Amino acid sequence: MKNATITALGGYVPTSVLSNEALTKMVDTSEEWIEKRTGIKERRIAEFDQSTSHLAAGAIKDLLQSYDVHPSEIEGVILATATPDSLLAPTAPTVCQLCELDNAFGFDLNSACSGFLYALTMATSMIESGRYKKIIVVGADKMSSIVDYNDRNTCILFGDGAGAVLLEAIESGNGVLNSILRTDGKGTESLLVPGGGSKYPASAESLISGKHYIKQDGSLVFKKAVAAMGSVSRDALTANDFDSEDIDWVIPHQANIRIIKAVSDSLNIPFEKVKVNIEKYGNTTSATIPLCLWDFKEDFKEGQNLLLTAFGAGFTWGATVLTWGVLRPSKSHNYQGNCVEATI
Ligand code: UT7
Repeated sequence: MKNATITALGGYVPTSVLSNEALTKMVDTSEEWIEKRTGIKERRIAEFDQSTSHLAAGAIKDLLQSYDVHPSEIEGVILATATPDSLLAPTAPTVCQLCELDNAFGFDLNSACSGFLYALTMATSMIESGRYKKIIVVGADKMSSIVDYNDRNTCILFGDGAGAVLLEAIESGNGVLNSILRTDGKGTESLLVPGGGSKYPASAESLISGKHYIKQDGSLVFKKAVAAMGSVSRDALTANDFDSEDIDWVIPHQANIRIIKAVSDSLNIPFEKVKVNIEKYGNTTSATIPLCLWDFKEDFKEGQNLLLTAFGAGFTWGATVLTWGVLRPSKSHNYQGNCVEATI
């Protein structure tokens, strides 16, 4: 059986920076509090007319421009997002169109902060089945579209961005080894956007009461995230007959530096092996893990084992163990697609 292996990566973040200092002028907070309690120094904010499809297309265009892969080779795009362009239609077809992926199917998957791991697992299964050979998994969120910038409990946390990986069928022994995904619907009310769906359709009342904004019981989510990511990561390691020493790098969901530290402590994995870029981007929901893979790709060597783990709304959580493979060669021909500029 051919393994599903990451062979190319791309990333996109908007140019506009929202600093902790700027947030102190918007809500009752301080730069010290935000950095100490979350690890975040700044986050990126998309332009008003830049929606999630633009962010996702930016990451895919960066991937297509950086590696020797042509758009016509791509068979499918799975877009993990909690902030689609609209409730209906799906956003992935727009992304495919923006990137001229004319041979690709595209669908959205919403599993909030765990979305990228869920999408990676779907794509892995499709590749392992033998039906598909090249699928792009992209995590993209415009969190600024659902954040209330008067709510200090949430507005300090989130940012906008997108990351993409090309998953390919490769016969090498590298690639995704296993994934464990979990859910607990009892957590739904602790982290959600209550309005705008079928339960509370958009109305004048839903707008006035702010139901279209993200709400979170931060300290409960914090505790659940630490316990859940620790336990599912241990299960994923055990399923591979691995222990902590077999892991070269941990790529955790970037929600809070204190959550990340607590998870690495509970797994007995030294913090030097844990990749963190939360200080630059904040919590970009579906995009944190692929943005982190993209940011640190130069550090990963063929044959090294990576542990990816995430926790988010639902609740949903999961862990994936993979062996890093060989990336495609850098770009040799000039693809000049017409999607958004991928300058970072
Ligand atoms: O990605 C999806 C998953 N999401 C997460 O994993 C987020 C999980 N939660 C967290 O990251 C943290 O719970 C927060 C960063 C949201 C909050 O940190 P905390 O250490 O759990 O603080 P807290 O909610 O227990 O609040 C402590 C105090 C409270 O004041 P009192 O009641 O002790 O007087 C808050 O009102 O800090 C206050 N506070 C703030 N103070 C300054 C809350 N937000 C702020 C703020 N600036 N922005």
